[in-house]
Amino acid sequence: MSGVIDLFGTLPDGREVRRWTVRDAGGAGFSVMELGAAILTLDVPDRHGAMGDVVLGFDALAPYLTHSPYFGAVVGRFANRIAGGRFVLDGHTHQLACNNGRNALHGGTIGFDKRLWRGAPIATADGPGVRFTLTSPDGEEGYPGTVATSVTYVWTEDRRLIVDYGATSDAPTPFNVSQHSYWNLAGAGTCVLDHLLRIEADRYLPVDETLIPTGELAPVTGTPFDFRVAKPIGRDIETADAQLRHGGGYDHNLVLNGAGLHVVAELSDPASGRRMTLATDQPGLQLYSGNFLDGTIIGKEGTLYPHRSAVVLETQHFPDSPNQPHFPDAILRPERPFASRTIFAFSAA
Ligand code: GLA
Repeated sequence: MSGVIDLFGTLPDGREVRRWTVRDAGGAGFSVMELGAAILTLDVPDRHGAMGDVVLGFDALAPYLTHSPYFGAVVGRFANRIAGGRFVLDGHTHQLACNNGRNALHGGTIGFDKRLWRGAPIATADGPGVRFTLTSPDGEEGYPGTVATSVTYVWTEDRRLIVDYGATSDAPTPFNVSQHSYWNLAGAGTCVLDHLLRIEADRYLPVDETLIPTGELAPVTGTPFDFRVAKPIGRDIETADAQLRHGGGYDHNLVLNGAGLHVVAELSDPASGRRMTLATDQPGLQLYSGNFLDGTIIGKEGTLYPHRSAVVLETQHFPDSPNQPHFPDAILRPERPFASRTIFAFSAA
């Protein structure tokens, strides 16, 4: 294992953004930067041993500041949407910045993805990695309470990326973090619709036309949202279905079966043989099929990223939980710190 720190870039206000690269003896590994605690690259071999970078992103800092659709970032304080950017907590109404039509998305105008985290190398029993910390002040983007949060990335010898989230708050506040990497196991620039995806979810959350859950936990049976048996992401994506119309494809939260840290999904690319399994202790998985990628973004090594050229698999609490009391509780309280783990495990066959 090796770890390298370098300067990835400098923000307009002069603050430096550092990058960490962690690799195993075989050359697989990842790099992350302090802006947004974002994953920049993740290299894993295909079935012939050829390394490939399986996440979308940019080579330099500048485009991350202007037109990154959350590439690789940690999203928070509240991942996904809160209806009207408004919620009532312990009798008080809070109004957030609305940065997605009439809703709040991914923590607001300056969410965790646009904040400069502070990184430090760590060594764990599982392997080496980087720990990022961030303090989100009381009132930031309209959220109550000062939140101290951390995200840790660790790379293991058997090619697992372990992502640990932690948070404490001095006052109750909605809290929901996720990793927003755009996966394409074939390598960048290709369409992701041939990838096979399996998700262990019997139910999903239908949404309205602004992508806010209606509140129903609907069975996936007989719908395009049934991924219980692996199928190509594209197989049903053009079905005439009101839900797919609302999302322009998949942009929905699946209600994961089971509880505790367990494998909930598997993504594989038949062409390269690369495979990724996803384990989490979170109740939901946002499946986003890169519908807003419109072919205008030029990413790493000058590669154009076409429509649906990656899939985002966001382990998280359900969108709009603060307004939907029957959803799993997503309020962080001072007496109950937040701790959660997601594991991305890579192999090839
Ligand atoms: C999430 C949302 C999508 C979109 C992407 C980023 O997946 O659910 O609607 O905002 O992030 O573009």
